[in-house]
Amino acid sequence: MLRIDEYRSIIEDQLQMIGGMKRPEGLYEPVKYILSLGGKRLRPVLCLASAGLFGDYSPALMPALGLEVFHNFTLLHDDIMDRSDVRRNHETVHKRWDDNTAILSGDLMLIKSYELISKSPVGVLPQVLEVFNKTAIEVCEGQQFDMEFEKTTDVTEEGYLDMIRLKTAVLIGASMKIGGILGGGSLRDCSLLYKFGQDIGMAFQLQDDWLDVFGNQETFGKQIGSDILNNKKTFLLISTLNRLEKEPRKQLLDWLERKDYNADEKIAAVTQLYNEAGVSEIVTRKRDDFFFRSLENFEKINGDQEIKKEIENFAHKLMARAR
Ligand code: IPE
Ligand code: IPE
Ligand code: MG
Ligand code: MG
Ligand code: MG
Repeated sequence: MLRIDEYRSIIEDQLQMIGGMKRPEGLYEPVKYILSLGGKRLRPVLCLASAGLFGDYSPALMPALGLEVFHNFTLLHDDIMDRSDVRRNHETVHKRWDDNTAILSGDLMLIKSYELISKSPVGVLPQVLEVFNKTAIEVCEGQQFDMEFEKTTDVTEEGYLDMIRLKTAVLIGASMKIGGILGGGSLRDCSLLYKFGQDIGMAFQLQDDWLDVFGNQETFGKQIGSDILNNKKTFLLISTLNRLEKEPRKQLLDWLERKDYNADEKIAAVTQLYNEAGVSEIVTRKRDDFFFRSLENFEKINGDQEIKKEIENFAHKLMARAR
């Protein structure tokens, strides 16, 4: 069995024990629910694999769970913010229960994540917390930019890239760096792991934006077209605005301003304009730029060669992901 598959199965087993039923059920049930819907678990898997590069992965187990619980907390709040009704092919927490439930169960998960991260060996705890605190703040910053961008059309490519770095990429970088610290990696290797993870995270969010338009709902597990309906300033939208001729560009801007419309019609029209601009190719190229850059840093890392190979393969598969 591949080490990475073993890590995933350990994480999955442990997660099912978190959010064990306590009272009030209305607080704990949603936690159990979201953790049982089976995400990809990529952050804790990368955390354990990063620890495994340098030695024993077991000191990283509780913090790795903390990173997954933190990620799931962000999803509960993100789904309220994005008005998303479907995640992992199931109703989102705020849809199944209500907004207040998703807020409070989310808060509980944030606190639980700190509890789990704090189970790091005391010698490295300050270092781990420093990385985690910085990252958690950056995720909030990224999410705020993401929401503010819904209301404006002058978001630049750089503005978008910085926003996704904050909302998504830094957490993947931090998961690997924290794993490295807990596994006993050198300062240099931990910082290379962070860079690698961050670039993989950039590529990962670019792919997420692409799947939101061109993915298959069943496989992706989320509503296709939701970014279009929310006027999200994704790389697809920004590149299309930059490339279209005057007339189709005006059509796209009209769709962004229109208040009364049929949702399917808007999704179809904007997707059509994306296709006219040849946006899939542009997103793929950008995604691959980040991926290849990530590999340049990864090569410089010392550590167990077999686990290194597994992480590299894992990253490759993540790039071509459909879910
Ligand atoms: C979803 O993350 C949020 C993004 C950063 C795009 P994942 O795609 O890792 O979600 P799960 O945990 O596998 O469901
Ligand atoms: C998610 O970005 C980033 C965080 C949850 C912090 P998205 O809003 O694109 O994620 P999905 O598509 O809802 O999973
Ligand atoms: Mg969002
Ligand atoms: Mg969302
Ligand atoms: Mg998305």
